[in-house]
Amino acid sequence: PLGNGYPEAPDNSLPILIAGGVGIASIFPLAEKLSDKAHLFYGGRNKDELLILDKLRGTVKELAISTDDGSLGEKGTVVDMLNKFLTQHSSLTSQHLIYACGPHPMLEAVSKLALEKGLRGYVSMEESMACGVGACLSCVVKTKDGYKRVCKEGPVFDAEEIIW
Ligand code: FES
Repeated sequence: PLGNGYPEAPDNSLPILIAGGVGIASIFPLAEKLSDKAHLFYGGRNKDELLILDKLRGTVKELAISTDDGSLGEKGTVVDMLNKFLTQHSSLTSQHLIYACGPHPMLEAVSKLALEKGLRGYVSMEESMACGVGACLSCVVKTKDGYKRVCKEGPVFDAEEIIW
């Protein structure tokens, strides 16, 4: 409920949503909004970590699932799966727009991959928050414009803005 939200996807864009584990809670409202325009990549350590799959299948255009242990979907990380997809669809790079939420290492890998492939995108940062109102600075992340508070200036940042 704190801070900003995901920016709108322009009409001519092809949104790619990436969720790791409980990051699906942040991505799901966006998946509902974009519905048949959205490709959703959803990964976790194992199948028990992946939630609301039936609901997701009926919501987005394409749902790609991965688990680290191979218990559901493709074996590997969601970043591996995304990399494969972007390589196969490189002709659409200018239209792809990334929206990601998940653990810090996943967001870092997704952002670096997106930038390397020339894609634009947004990441929703997860940090511990003590006050939630911008006073304690416990939630700061390093950006190109200095430190920013996830609870106030975030949690959603342009992927290019974060210094990992
Ligand atoms: Fe205190 Fe963000 S949680 S400044």
